[in-house]
Amino acid sequence: MEKFTLVTGGTGYIGSHTVVALMEAGYQVVIVDNLENSSDKVLSRIESITGTLPVFIRADLRETTTITKIFEEYPISSVLHFAGLKAVGESVENPAKYYDNNIGSTLSLINAMKSSIVSTLVFSSSATVYSPSKEPPFDEEATRGPTNPYGMSKYFIEQILTDVALADENWSIGLLRYFNPIGAHPTGLIGEMPTGIPNNLVPYIMQVAVEKLEKLYIFGDDYETPDGSCIRDYVHVVDLARGHLAALRFLEGVNGTHVWNLGTGKGSSVLELVKAVEEAIGKPIPREVVGRREGDIPVVFADVEKASNELTWRAENTLTRMCLDHWNWQRQNPDGYQ
Ligand SMILES: NC(=O)c1ccc[n+]([C@@H]2O[C@H](COP(=O)([O-])OP(=O)(O)OC[C@H]3O[C@@H](n4cnc5c(N)ncnc54)[C@H](O)[C@@H]3O)[C@@H](O)[C@H]2O)c1
Repeated sequence: MEKFTLVTGGTGYIGSHTVVALMEAGYQVVIVDNLENSSDKVLSRIESITGTLPVFIRADLRETTTITKIFEEYPISSVLHFAGLKAVGESVENPAKYYDNNIGSTLSLINAMKSSIVSTLVFSSSATVYSPSKEPPFDEEATRGPTNPYGMSKYFIEQILTDVALADENWSIGLLRYFNPIGAHPTGLIGEMPTGIPNNLVPYIMQVAVEKLEKLYIFGDDYETPDGSCIRDYVHVVDLARGHLAALRFLEGVNGTHVWNLGTGKGSSVLELVKAVEEAIGKPIPREVVGRREGDIPVVFADVEKASNELTWRAENTLTRMCLDHWNWQRQNPDGYQ
């Protein structure tokens, strides 16, 4: 019988792109998602790209009994765990919601996996686990010290998973620390679907481009960076998706916990990003420079040598390509999947 990979949060932004990559590589996929921050309309889009409709189960991961039944029904051999809440600002306002959802989901998933003797897991962590006191680039050994409840939830989950693998040597766990995912599938059929006003820079700029928002606010142009604006490591979501396949293949041959940064290793400033978007869309983005935002770190980018050496994975897409693909998605789907 063919084995399945369970993808939690598989109707979300990064999950849906990874489902496409998995299916194109010949994996059978079961998606579980409660649709809190996604739409089931993504499923027919995935079918349009891959020719196959993935199995989808609408459920909250915290319902352990339901999740255990999924493992009983499908011969699942590995899990990619994307499900979680990700808005930093909301996590500051409502930390309990974030700890309950992100940590509660992971504990429930671990318990369901244990009772089904499935022990290969890739977890979506984040560069937000790193302490801002460190100078970039951030390698995997850099001091961790998240500054908000969202980042803390990732930090705690990394620790829980590390302890699980220490207690039972059958577990093979990959912790993937993403930097700043942007872009969309080159078909423009799937992409990021922010609800309300976007929290992230590129979705925000795109909504300015389609005139849903009036202008872009740039928080500070007096940082100690070449053009004064903050620098981040933007990585194409399709490159990230490939990184998950590479991690899964690596974990087939080892046990224990393994951690990798997924970024390009190159920082781009807010002003460089705006310029790349303007080139992609062919018109200027109305903008206003305002004061610095509390908590913003001037420069963040990844050291990607470990992923390159161990996973033979490197991000391939340029900033221009990321912006073109993101715009292609936004232009075709100004209201997301609605
Ligand atoms: N997008 C980023 O900038 C970024 C950066 C670093 C890490 N991450 C992490 O990567 C993962 C995926 O991010 P994304 O951008 O695709 O987010 P997303 O919101 O698009 O996808 C997450 C999915 O999880 C689902 N979900 C949430 N709680 C659930 C629960 N209890 N049960 C079942 N489903 C649940 C949501 O409905 C959504 O479809 C998240 O864990 C996020 O924290 C994202």
